[in-house]
Amino acid sequence: MNSETTNIRIRKEDEALILAIETSCDETSASVILGGKHILSNIVSSQIDIHERFGGVVPEIASRKHVEAITVIMEQAVKKSGHELADLSAIAVTQGPGLVGALLVGIVAAKTLSLALDIPLIGTHHIAGHIYANGLVHELIYPSIALVVSGGHTELVLMKEEGVFEVIGRTRDDAVGEAYDKVARSLRLPYPGGPHIDRMAGEAQTSIDLPRAWLEEGSFDFSFSGLKSAVLAVINQTRMKGEALDEAALARGFQESVIEVLVVKALRAVKQFGVRQLLLCGGVAANRGLRDALAQRCEEEGVDLLAPPGNLCTDNAAMIGAAAFLKFKRRQFTELDMRADPGLSLEQWSVRAGIS
Ligand code: KG4
Ligand code: ZN
Repeated sequence: MNSETTNIRIRKEDEALILAIETSCDETSASVILGGKHILSNIVSSQIDIHERFGGVVPEIASRKHVEAITVIMEQAVKKSGHELADLSAIAVTQGPGLVGALLVGIVAAKTLSLALDIPLIGTHHIAGHIYANGLVHELIYPSIALVVSGGHTELVLMKEEGVFEVIGRTRDDAVGEAYDKVARSLRLPYPGGPHIDRMAGEAQTSIDLPRAWLEEGSFDFSFSGLKSAVLAVINQTRMKGEALDEAALARGFQESVIEVLVVKALRAVKQFGVRQLLLCGGVAANRGLRDALAQRCEEEGVDLLAPPGNLCTDNAAMIGAAAFLKFKRRQFTELDMRADPGLSLEQWSVRAGIS
């Protein structure tokens, strides 16, 4: 992944213009980022309305829709930034994790531009993007812990220094957003169901008590499939008895279980590693209940809770540009034969030591 690319337009860092591309799932997005920090444009085209009728993302359809959208979205991002292609310093693109066919669309577009403009390519980790979305709106200090909660990931990540990732906890089954979407589906709510459950939980007067999966003593891992089964059991039992289901109370019980486990483990990690900042990120970071509970606990512990605004929590290319800048600064570029990697390791994507 170390390239000696001849780059004709590498600028001073704070003048670097990175065009970033994100196509890992169901959003086609392109963004121009100045100096790793300033969003000049961030165009996001969501396919949610197309996948909604299937109750989830259909990979083949996602790829096809990315193909249709990618050129226009990139053009819009460059135009809106007030710059031209010739001004760009590097092209960043999500290399993984994600749907392989969807990733490929962004990667082919990025390689083509990198080659045509003779500027470096930076294959970027999607989760590093979610984490460094925080860097677009906050000053980050190290060591820090990130709680990554999205449709595909639930992870606690320790960063002892900038761009160096250590995954200290991960889900052993469903990602938290996935659990939200499955529970929502069993309540016949539209896809993606997370926001609906969040709203219902906030409006509920009562709560149905559900189990918490703490796992072994000291573990930072998560498990949500047992909770999901417990929700299904409540739904089935109520139906069999011919009783009316208090859906709001069930949504609240589910949300309370999820939030308690996330908050307790995140705060334990914060204490154990002596960090001063907790970075919340990923689509589920938009969850009101989670934000409020974390904010309260962090305040009690004297820790700063950072979270990006809603539009930078869900998938977008600006966050990919922010993460890519970590490598741009260190001139750690990617070869043009880079391949989409649905299982790309966050730890291995860390910046290489020595140069800062
Ligand atoms: O990060 P993201 O946009 O895509 C992935 O990379 O996975 O996250 C999407 C996930 C979906 O599962 C969606 O239901 C969930 O984030 N989500 C929420 C909320 N808003 C979005 N889950 C719970 N509460 C919310 N308010
Ligand atoms: Zn994501």
